[in-house]
Amino acid sequence: MKKVRIGIIGFGNVAYGLVKILQEKKDFYMKEFGLEFLVTAVVDLKKGTAYNPEGINLEALINHTSLNEIPNADHPNWNAVNMIHNAETDAIVELSYTNLKTGEPAVLHIREAILSGKHVVTSNKGPVALHYRTLHTLARENNVQFGIEGTVMSGTPTLRLGTEILRSSGVNAIQGIFNGTTNFILSEMENGSTYAEALLLAQEFGYAEADPSGDVEGFDTAGKVAILSQLIFGETINPSEIEREGITDITPDDILAAKKMNSRWKLIGSVKKVDNKILASVKPVMIPYSNALANVMGAMNAIEYETELLGPVFLIGPGAGRIETGYAILQDLISIFN
Ligand code: HSE
Repeated sequence: MKKVRIGIIGFGNVAYGLVKILQEKKDFYMKEFGLEFLVTAVVDLKKGTAYNPEGINLEALINHTSLNEIPNADHPNWNAVNMIHNAETDAIVELSYTNLKTGEPAVLHIREAILSGKHVVTSNKGPVALHYRTLHTLARENNVQFGIEGTVMSGTPTLRLGTEILRSSGVNAIQGIFNGTTNFILSEMENGSTYAEALLLAQEFGYAEADPSGDVEGFDTAGKVAILSQLIFGETINPSEIEREGITDITPDDILAAKKMNSRWKLIGSVKKVDNKILASVKPVMIPYSNALANVMGAMNAIEYETELLGPVFLIGPGAGRIETGYAILQDLISIFN
């Protein structure tokens, strides 16, 4: 049995999902992959620190109100960088509250983790959208891996599909629904909820960003489009430079008008490479029911890879949520340590 000691930075929705999965499926991962996951260290800016090199009690972690109150653990006065350097860990899971403009503080944490010889996994979009190439190269130079599957469509294996499985076919263009919160809001509005009610529910379910304007104004989708541009086409594009329009101007009347035309509004992110130039955009589009994207409802996401050898390939699956994104982190951890 291989022990995998994990240090978590930031204990919000995704960390909760990851720990919950580890708690419920511990035996399965031992049996199936020969891996015993131990969460040895957790730091959170507001909730404090917990450290036990033998593994923190997962039940206590899930039910904690403050990390500092978890029994059978130490509570050193660490910040994230102290934890990276001082805790016994094999991998750092970086889930801090990070902005999309600079990618900080996640970029700092990821660099420190890589330089201290630790694998690092994140679902934070900023560091990947803005600095993937640098961080990926740094990881390679330091013989560690940098896992990022959860940055697009949560646990639905979107990046793996595009970068590994479809790579040999060639991808010409990508479009899709990449934000669970906005798709959920548009679906709920069609069912009669107000915009405000739907947004509140999306926050309760853990879909929305800490600052939901990032979702509804299309920044989050722009971040994911930038990640796809980087990973699939090898082209760096700053999310702030992507033509962008959110869903805040879509009214119940617009939704009704689309319905009368057998269509639905969807927030569509797209990116393609034409004559060595990247064309990318984020905007609401009225999609006819006959197109698969129109029937992706709630917090589900979808991607259409337009490929050279297969034509269009669709993947539909969860795009946000605690367990869904926690599972993305776990996929990366398993792929690193298996
Ligand atoms: N806020 C994001 C969404 C989370 O709603 O899709 C997943 O990136």
